[in-house]
Amino acid sequence: MSRFVVEFGKDGTPPAEEGRLDAPPFHRNHEAIWQALSPFLAAKTGAVLEIGSGTGQHAVTYAARTPELVWHPSDILDTHLASIAAWRLHAKLPNVAPPQRIDLADPAWTWTPGGPVAAILCINVLHISPWMVSQNLIAGAARHLARDGRLFVYGPFMRDGAHTAPSNAEFDASLRARNPAWGVRDIADLDRLGLAAGLSPAVITAMPANNFVLAFTRLAPRI
Ligand SMILES: C[S@@+](CC[C@H](N)C(=O)[O-])C[C@H]1O[C@@H](n2cnc3c(N)ncnc32)[C@H](O)[C@@H]1O
Repeated sequence: MSRFVVEFGKDGTPPAEEGRLDAPPFHRNHEAIWQALSPFLAAKTGAVLEIGSGTGQHAVTYAARTPELVWHPSDILDTHLASIAAWRLHAKLPNVAPPQRIDLADPAWTWTPGGPVAAILCINVLHISPWMVSQNLIAGAARHLARDGRLFVYGPFMRDGAHTAPSNAEFDASLRARNPAWGVRDIADLDRLGLAAGLSPAVITAMPANNFVLAFTRLAPRI
C-alpha cells in the first residue's frame, strides 16, 4: 500500500453509511501524536484549528478528550469536508465546529470566526503539498496564534539536510516522482521560516515509524 494518501475513500473501501471516511494511518498515529499534544492542550481553553483534517477522525477524537477547547477542522476537498461533517454528527460533541474550507495555497488564508487560537494542528500535509503550503502555514500560524499559542505539525521530516531513515529517503523520492513540488521537508527550513515570522524553533518529538511532531510557539512580538 502507498505510504501517502491524497484523497481518502478512493481506494475502494466503502465509507460508512453516513459518509464517514476512514484513514488507516489515523489508527497507527493518533495515540502517539496525542502524547505530544496533551500536556499543552490540558492547560488551555479556547479554539484549536486543524488544517488538512482529512477524514476528521483526529479532530473528533481529540475534541472528546478536551472539553474545554473548541475544535475547528478544515480541508480543501469536498469529500473530506463531507466526511468531517459526518464524523462531527456521529460524535455529537458540542466542542467540534462545522468544517470549513481552508486552503494553505492561499497566502492570505484565514478562518472563521477568527481571533487568536490556542493551537493549530497540521498532520501529514506538508510533504504532499508544494513548499508554499509550508510557508503559508507558518505565516498563518504567526497571524492566528495567541501569544504562547502553539503550532503542532506531524509527519516525516529531514534534519539539517539529511533523511532520518532510508525509508524516508525512499518515501521522499516516491513523493517527488508523483509531484516534483512535493517532498519531505527539512526542520531547519521550517525553523528559519518560523523565526522570521515570530515563532520559536521547533521542539522536536520523535514518533513511531520515523515521523516527528514539531511544536512551534508563538513568541511575544519584538518591541
Ligand atoms: C495525507 S492527508 C492527511 C489528512 C489528515 N490530517 C490525517 O492525518 O488523516 C493530507 C490532507 O491535506 C489536505 N490538503 C492538501 N493540500 C492542502 C492545502 N493546500 N490546504 C489545506 N489542506 C490541504 C488534503 O485534502 C488532505 O486532507
